[in-house]
Amino acid sequence: MEAPDPELLELARSARTVTVLSGAGMSAESGVPTFRDAGTGLWARWSPEELATPEAWDADPELVWSWYLWRARQVRRLRPNTGHRAVARWADRARVHVVTQNVDDLHERAGSRVLAHLHGSLFAFRCSVCGAPFPARLVPGLAAGTGAQRPPDPPEPARERPPECPACGGPVRPAVVWFGELLPEEAVERAAAAVAEADLVLVVGTSGLVQPAASLPLVAVGRGTPVVEVNPEDTALTPHADRTVRAGAAEALPLLLPPPDGRRPAARRPSTGR
Ligand code: OAD
Repeated sequence: MEAPDPELLELARSARTVTVLSGAGMSAESGVPTFRDAGTGLWARWSPEELATPEAWDADPELVWSWYLWRARQVRRLRPNTGHRAVARWADRARVHVVTQNVDDLHERAGSRVLAHLHGSLFAFRCSVCGAPFPARLVPGLAAGTGAQRPPDPPEPARERPPECPACGGPVRPAVVWFGELLPEEAVERAAAAVAEADLVLVVGTSGLVQPAASLPLVAVGRGTPVVEVNPEDTALTPHADRTVRAGAAEALPLLLPPPDGRRPAARRPSTGR
């Protein structure tokens, strides 16, 4: 795509306080599969609706634990993309609040401080009985570095038992939000405050189908705050967004948020619209 039109660039450049709301598409070009795009491997065999539930945990904690551990180890091997890095760089010249539905740590590894992980993190753990936090460094296979230096992982989860909680002996679970569970209240409050404070809300790579995260951009729309969507596809938000950039995050964000020194990545044809 070519550089976005000047009006959109000006909107991004002039914003002083920005809230970035990211979803699975943000990390798609890093190799993390999205949830709802057809044909992506990870969910072809294990659907999140089946495994990301308290019922699945109750029925077979070992299976759910192994699946999450396998995903966490996969993410460890992947790297932030140019979209994550553009968001991190943006903080050099505006107040940028990153609120993500993603459970990966690619925003952080690109250099952003994430204000809220609305759906938790693949790298945080707690006891499923007493709730005590469990340190990630005690989880087998998670501490051993990132990127290509990691030993290869199996192509699918091998069964592993969840560790025992040192406090009560209960099985340790991933500190992610499962379907039917409430989001961490503090994270939701921080996200809502960031949206209220923003003079620009940038929504990247989310289908806008999962509540309450999906309502955050609509709150901004209701307040009259400009909302820009970056997504190669139409979403539930598209009719409400002020501007839409029809491209992937890794391509669009470096063009929308060029480095302060004015250097621009090579440009191709744009596909932006209202
Ligand atoms: P989805 O899988 O529902 O949507 C991914 C979105 O990313 C779609 O709108 C795609 O068009 C878009 N997309 C794909 N590739 C992209 C790219 N390269 N750049 C930008 N966008 C791209 O993911 P989420 O909306 O994040 O919840 O899903 C929300 C929640 O549903 C997840 O956090 C998870 C899931 O079930 C829980 O696990 C609680």
